[in-house]
Amino acid sequence: MAYLVGNIGSLIINDSMWGVVHQKKKHAFAVEGDKIIWVGEESKAPACDARLDVEGGCVIPGFVDSHAHPVFAGSRELEFAARMAGETYQAGGINSTVTATRAASKNELRANLQRLQSELFAGGITHFEAKSGYGLDVETERISLEVAREFTEDTTFLGAHLVPLGANPDSYVDLVTGEMLEAAAPLAKWIDVFCDEGAFDLEQSRRVLLAGIARGLKPRIHANQIRNIGAIDLAIELDCASADHCTHLSDHDVDLLAGGNTVATFLPGAEFSTRSAYPNAGRLLNAGARIAIATDCNPGSSFTTSMGFCIAVAVREMGLSVDQAFYAATIGGANALRDDTLGNITEGNRADFAVLDAPNHFYFAYRPGVQLVTQTFVAGKKVFERK
Ligand code: NIG
Ligand code: FE
Repeated sequence: MAYLVGNIGSLIINDSMWGVVHQKKKHAFAVEGDKIIWVGEESKAPACDARLDVEGGCVIPGFVDSHAHPVFAGSRELEFAARMAGETYQAGGINSTVTATRAASKNELRANLQRLQSELFAGGITHFEAKSGYGLDVETERISLEVAREFTEDTTFLGAHLVPLGANPDSYVDLVTGEMLEAAAPLAKWIDVFCDEGAFDLEQSRRVLLAGIARGLKPRIHANQIRNIGAIDLAIELDCASADHCTHLSDHDVDLLAGGNTVATFLPGAEFSTRSAYPNAGRLLNAGARIAIATDCNPGSSFTTSMGFCIAVAVREMGLSVDQAFYAATIGGANALRDDTLGNITEGNRADFAVLDAPNHFYFAYRPGVQLVTQTFVAGKKVFERK
């Protein structure tokens, strides 16, 4: 049972050349099961059982959100308001979400994630990563990952998000790399650590990532959000799939990222919501590194589910063209998750796409904050329709 997506005003396709985005006219594509099986001029389309007429709308590949912390309870708007009144962001705020998450039932965590997933879909995100990291004890980290796994294959164990209040840092790293990792490993694909001032230092981070790797997880890292403590060296040393935040980068870091296999993932919502200086993402592209943009959805430093918002901020503040930011939010996210079946409308890829009430993808930056997505499809099935 194949269907053709036709009458597309502009079909947005990413080139294999980094940052090059095409706006194809008179193009259509065919979907069978969960995959795209054909892309080309509509006049040459193969016979299909059904047709989805998008009435001249623009169709984009779904956004790939490669960095999100959507398993939690509670909120921190007072902390946000205090920051906007002059307080600085510190890693320690995580503890208040930990208290709320530990007190929540599994059903509440699931319902919270369900609601966030609806928002992600409404903004055109069709695939997302989900980290644990607001449990920080064996039981709550396990439950967090069980819930995350109901929604995505890209689950990430982030027991090393913060040393919980009252714990001894070295004993806590023992727990994360021991009993907690044992509980998490069957449920997670990735291991992550917040390697930064006020969280985990380089040695502790290396221990966490190496223990995860030894247990079959693949590494990624929160690097240099608050201060540059050398996390990029560690990311390259361990071939992390991505180094995320990259708010503070030295020339040495830029050279390393340009020469390595690690994607630099930018999180514009985090600088926005912590009132921090924006890093220059364009500098990395010019050096030859690969980049991604992600939401970092979490209740503390970036409580957004909108990739459109992140693209708009990246274009306005981080030295990217609209095409580059769009590419980073689609192919970039797929690269950061090391999954080449996502992030583009091309034969063989998962059929993840969104229809826009706009002529092209420039509108995400040109009309910031506006609901442009009218329909979203994941693996060939409709998951969102604008009322
Ligand atoms: O990616 N940097 C560490 N973790 C989150 C923030 C967590 C929080 O403040 O709750 C982030 O920004
Ligand atoms: Fe994060």
